Amino acid sequence: MILVTGGCGFIGSHITDALIEKGNKVIVMDNLSSGNLKNLNSKAEFIKGDVTNTDDIESVFCRFPIRAVCHHAAQISVAISMENPLFDVNTNVIGIIKLLQACSRYKVKRFVFASSAAIYGNPAYLPIDEQHPKNPLSFYGLSKLTSEQCIRIYAENNEMSYGILRYANVYGPRQKAEGEGGVVAVFMNRMTANKDCYIHGDGKQTRDFIYVKDIALANVKALECDESFTANVSTNVYTDIVTLFDTMKRQVGYNKNAIFTESRKGDIKDSYLKNTVINDLLSWLPKYDLNEGLRETAKYFLNA
Ligand SMILES: NC(=O)c1ccc[n+]([C@@H]2O[C@H](COP(=O)([O-])OP(=O)(O)OC[C@H]3O[C@@H](n4cnc5c(N)ncnc54)[C@H](O)[C@@H]3O)[C@@H](O)[C@H]2O)c1
Repeated sequence: MILVTGGCGFIGSHITDALIEKGNKVIVMDNLSSGNLKNLNSKAEFIKGDVTNTDDIESVFCRFPIRAVCHHAAQISVAISMENPLFDVNTNVIGIIKLLQACSRYKVKRFVFASSAAIYGNPAYLPIDEQHPKNPLSFYGLSKLTSEQCIRIYAENNEMSYGILRYANVYGPRQKAEGEGGVVAVFMNRMTANKDCYIHGDGKQTRDFIYVKDIALANVKALECDESFTANVSTNVYTDIVTLFDTMKRQVGYNKNAIFTESRKGDIKDSYLKNTVINDLLSWLPKYDLNEGLRETAKYFLNA
């Protein structure tokens, strides 16, 4: 059995779907703080629980024979991490340590973790590879970096291997506007309601947008592998915000022009991530280009 934490959220629910489609038995543990039961695959076993609560974790591990954990439950807002670093550390760092302690007690063999490009901070060069310096600009990025090190230390002291996946900007159906990399969801919500859309700065800033079903497949492959590794999960392609906006306009059938506002302090100008490590190791490459991914995403938001 595979435990997916955060399996009622945006990314975790797509991973749960992909795992179940491949015939796996999945337990989802989620406290529903930002996730929704509407996202939950009906074939998954659901336990309402919090990863910061030792009793909640214990009740899952003593009930089910869990051989692998796919950890996606998290506090995902950069802004909240800056306003309330202790809340971020409690959910993202204390939470993972409690889970890893349970993995150690119950001899879990595999741990896959959702890390983030936020660990790198301002790019020193592009594309960002896994060796790039790590200077997170937020407590969120710092807690992801710390979590990575916690996993490594636990794995070195237990018979557990790990896959650490550092995501670029993930987008797709079920995403909420509040989270990390939420610009697609923000525009989708506003476009489908025919509201104005705002672009910060000149809109020439670039990001690496990856479709959620590609992320789900990377997780399935990472769970099947038994080597320990750390890899970017990205497209290796950069897209500026104006191009993203124009592509979305066509997909949604939105007619307004964007309104340009002041650039946000501390916003990174350009970012995209190299994906050769995961390609070499798991033969994974993204299957969706931006047009296809946005078309699928638009269908979801137009029907929501
Ligand atoms: N969305 C992105 O672009 C992106 C990029 C990099 C990394 N990530 C990481 O991917 C993971 C999933 O992100 P998402 O975008 O799907 O966010 P999400 O908010 O949709 O999913 C997180 C899920 O975790 C649950 N959760 C939160 N705190 C919990 C707790 N203490 N105990 C149990 N469950 C809890 C929420 O209810 C939610 O269902 C996170 O770890 C996030 O940091 C996301």
